[in-house]
Amino acid sequence: MALIENAPKITGGGPALEAPRSKRSPRSTKTNFELYAWLFMRLSGILLVVLVIGHLIIQLIIDGGVTRIGFAFVAGRWANPFWMTWDLVMLWLAELHGVNGLRTIINDYAERDQTRFWLKVLLYTSALIVLFTGTLVIFTFDPNIGQ
Ligand code: HEM
Repeated sequence: MALIENAPKITGGGPALEAPRSKRSPRSTKTNFELYAWLFMRLSGILLVVLVIGHLIIQLIIDGGVTRIGFAFVAGRWANPFWMTWDLVMLWLAELHGVNGLRTIINDYAERDQTRFWLKVLLYTSALIVLFTGTLVIFTFDPNIGQ
C-alpha cells in the first residue's frame, strides 16, 4: 500500500506543451495526407543523401573538380539520359522535400490564417516556377542552339 502511495504521479508530470496552432481541418481526418507527407520526408531524405553527395563529389572533387565545369561540361553530361534523369530526380525531390518542410514550418509558426494562406501561396507559386523552368531546361537544353 505504501509503495502505491509513494509512486510518482503519471498525469501532469511531463513537460508543458503548447497546443498546436494549426487547426485540425476536417479534410485531414479523412485522408492520410500527413502520414504520406511524413513518410515522403524520410524516403526523399535517404535518396537525397545519395543524389546530393554523388552530385557534389562529381562536380567539385573528382577529375579537376569545379575548374572543369563550364558550358561544354554541362552539354556533355546532358547528352546522357542517365545524368538527365539524375538531375531531374534530384530537382524534383529537393524541391518537393523543401516545400513540404516549409509547409510544416508555416503551419507551426504562422499564427494568423491569412498569413498562413499567403505564405503558402508564395511557397507553391515559387515551387511551380522552379519545377517548370528546371524541368524545361533539362529536357530542352541544346548545346548547338544559335549555331
Ligand atoms: C541531403 C539529404 C537530406 C536529408 C537526409 C533530409 C532529411 C529530412 C528529414 C528526415 C526531415 C523531417 C524532419 C522532421 O519531420 O522533424 C527534413 C525536414 C526538412 N528538410 Fe530535409 N533532408 C535532406 C535534404 C534537404 C534539402 C536539399 C532541403 C532543401 C531543399 C531540405 C529542407 C528541409 C526542410 C525545410 C525541412 C523541414 C524542417 C522542419 O520541419 O523543421 N532538406 N529533412
